[in-house]
Amino acid sequence: MRKRYHLTTFGCQMNEHDSERMKGMLESIGYGEAATRDQADLILFNTCSIRENADNRFVAHLGEAKRLKAQDPTRVVGVGGCWAQSVKEEVFARFPFVDVAFGPGQVHKLAEFLTSDSLSAQGFFEFEGFTGHLPAKRAREFQAWVQISVGCNSVCSYCIVPSTRGREVSRPTDELVAEARALAADGVREVTLLGQNVNSYGRDLPRERRTSFAELLTRIDAIEGLERIRYTSPHPKDMRIDVIKAHAELRSVCEHIHLPLQSGSGTVLKRMRRTYTRERYLDRVALIREHVPDCALTTDIIVGFPRETEEDFRQTLEVAEEVGYDGAFTFVYSPRRGTEAATLPDQVPHEVQVERMERLVEVIQRRAHERAQRFVGRRVAVLVEGTSRTDPSRLRGRSRHNKVVNFDGLAAPGDLVEVLITGASSQTLTGEASLVSRASG
Ligand code: 5AD
Ligand code: SF4
Repeated sequence: MRKRYHLTTFGCQMNEHDSERMKGMLESIGYGEAATRDQADLILFNTCSIRENADNRFVAHLGEAKRLKAQDPTRVVGVGGCWAQSVKEEVFARFPFVDVAFGPGQVHKLAEFLTSDSLSAQGFFEFEGFTGHLPAKRAREFQAWVQISVGCNSVCSYCIVPSTRGREVSRPTDELVAEARALAADGVREVTLLGQNVNSYGRDLPRERRTSFAELLTRIDAIEGLERIRYTSPHPKDMRIDVIKAHAELRSVCEHIHLPLQSGSGTVLKRMRRTYTRERYLDRVALIREHVPDCALTTDIIVGFPRETEEDFRQTLEVAEEVGYDGAFTFVYSPRRGTEAATLPDQVPHEVQVERMERLVEVIQRRAHERAQRFVGRRVAVLVEGTSRTDPSRLRGRSRHNKVVNFDGLAAPGDLVEVLITGASSQTLTGEASLVSRASG
């Protein structure tokens, strides 16, 4: 009987992509996917540790794996990703039913473990650069991720990522272009370039092969068949004019930039070790608006960082008001083990964090709603992803601005449809399809 795996993914797009590679690897060594955990011979988790609630959610799932393993001890339980990396060998002491644990990106180690003779507790936690030269099992045929670098050289004081993913290593440019070309030939229309800090791409490459992020965008844009290029996440400190111009000049680079603000207060930014000021951030926004006036801007903001005063927070509200984001991910600050910020005095009380969050969300949603109105009456190109989550009789896709569009019409996933926008809320646009271009066309 063919062995079966069940994989649960937590966290960011980087993890989603690692999971695709794990699935590709597992299928290449003969495993099939199980629909539910209890049908699986191999129960896997790809974990996240970015905030405390990510840890808690995952630990609850582990409980079920423990029960299933007790029912059938031949089952193998594996835990990969950032949480595993952040606790390392401790995982075996705390959760003795875990057979294998491995850090982010270590897909090949999982293969090594599964094909070895001894399936006793093993951990793999080295940082080795990019190791995913395996076929990825993509969730959608027409969309793909390309991981351009691993790790992060920043030292943001709240963030666990540098300790779970190691220092930044860029993949060679020719290899990335070849990967993107192969994806295009395989029917991919949209690629998302992934890295912890995409726009510092290339700085660690040997001088004779050094390529900037903007040059990488130019080379990928030249690939026939790719309609859309996205990337996440850039760091404001590395947002240069060449990257901004790429949005204006390159056909397939989408009109959307996710530019994590984190805080609008200079003193908090300093304590976060973000290495930019509020002024420099706003200057980047002005440059984007000058060269790509219609560009959608989204962001990440942390509320209630240690010692954040009412005045600091007011400055965050001010920036949110002034920029007018098309959308934002907002997070209550969560102390992470081993980070500098977790040791700072004057942690902000939870009630204050929650109250500030409510005020921030009000500004974000109001501004996003206002911004979205500019699309009403316009025809926008929508890449169809499936049916609407709220109304299965309608279709859902995304515009180049990364807005979710729910619309009436006939089209298949992967089609590019022209949609006349008739309504807009802070989160989604609605409309009617007019023109369809087939995925094959
Ligand atoms: N607490 C809250 N939010 C955090 N983020 C990263 N670390 C923390 C933390 N300790 C947020 C940042 C980052 C996003 C991916 O998660 O806003 O940009
Ligand atoms: Fe974390 Fe900062 Fe690196 Fe982003 S840039 S992953 S927030 S350390």
